[in-house]
Amino acid sequence: MTENTHAPQPRGVPHAGAAAGAGTPPALLRMEGVGVTAGSRHHRKVIVRDVDLTVGAGEAVGLVGESGSGKSMLVKAAIRLLPYRAEASGDISFEGRPVLGFSRRDLSAYRSRDVALIHQDPRAATNPLRTVGDFVIEQVVATGQLTHREATEKACALMAEVGVTEPRHRLTQYPHELSGGLLQRMMIIAALLHSPKLLFADEPTTALDVTVQSEVMAIIKERTAEQNVGLLFISHDLDLAAAVTDSLAVMYAGTVVERGATDRVYSRPRHPYTAALLACRPSPTAVARLTPIPGRPVAAFESGTGCAFADRCRFTIEQCRVERPHLRPLEDRMVACHRAEEIEADIEPVEAL
Ligand SMILES: Nc1ncnc2c1ncn2[C@@H]1O[C@H](COP(=O)(O)OP(=O)(O)OP(=O)(O)O)[C@@H](O)[C@H]1O
Ligand SMILES: [Mg+2]
Repeated sequence: MTENTHAPQPRGVPHAGAAAGAGTPPALLRMEGVGVTAGSRHHRKVIVRDVDLTVGAGEAVGLVGESGSGKSMLVKAAIRLLPYRAEASGDISFEGRPVLGFSRRDLSAYRSRDVALIHQDPRAATNPLRTVGDFVIEQVVATGQLTHREATEKACALMAEVGVTEPRHRLTQYPHELSGGLLQRMMIIAALLHSPKLLFADEPTTALDVTVQSEVMAIIKERTAEQNVGLLFISHDLDLAAAVTDSLAVMYAGTVVERGATDRVYSRPRHPYTAALLACRPSPTAVARLTPIPGRPVAAFESGTGCAFADRCRFTIEQCRVERPHLRPLEDRMVACHRAEEIEADIEPVEAL
């Protein structure tokens, strides 16, 4: 395999993403058969199809896939923040309670106490006319969880812990006065201020440069591990996700095609798409020709009745074109590929692809 600078370092927490099973922590978030559709009443498009995923307390799960594979829509479904005309189906539960059935009051408590979301672009998530302090403090005060004073003190303490200097002054500044990395740290503090049980981090470092990216990732990793917060980390970067998660779910065309413990999936992919993703990364140490995945990614609504990856897969047979593979247990993980057993030897050495 190509050398990896972000070697996966599971936190030692049992992983819910591995094959059905033993040692799984009690699920905080459980998704079963989750779908998302969008569009007009007469022309519905499938965006996410039949996703099963769990995140346990203190567990870090990575959701990885190309742009347009439905990662953000899945997360929005889990927080009930889908855009107009998009709808979720299937079962989504939080601590055993049905999220899709929440009343307004339940939903408000769920969003303000149980979960938190870090957005991809901190500037787009803030109001340029309000101070950073307003953003960080307001929600937790409005929901009565802390007084203004307590929230300010807690925010300042968190800022000091993540290396933000002059914490009180920062709270009086406007978003444009802070660098991207600093602003994203403030977003993390805002997300953690009410001590959520589960943190959704939707590509939290995509808008940042590489050095700031590692700092921000270290903060997310440390904070969530320390407070036993579940983490659903969304990224298109498999290396980055592997570095901070216990289990990985690889998404393609709106569905999960492989799921398992991070170190297993990363070191020995069993789905051709995961193997192809790993094979097309540039090596940090060697100059080598990359092996691109032929064709272009497709959205769920563009895929036909067969496997959505069939047109780009070198192992495709007739069955793949006509019959959609479902996620099924295979040794230490779940894989959605008809030929996973037969092709094992061909895809095991990732460098050979
Ligand atoms: N409001 C919407 N209405 C209809 N379709 C949408 C809407 N928002 C997104 N989509 C479509 O849903 C699909 C999945 O989008 P999504 O934003 O979840 O992808 P993603 O995996 O998060 O991609 P990225 O890595 O670029 O963030 C895409 O085909 C997109 O065009
Ligand atoms: Mg997205």
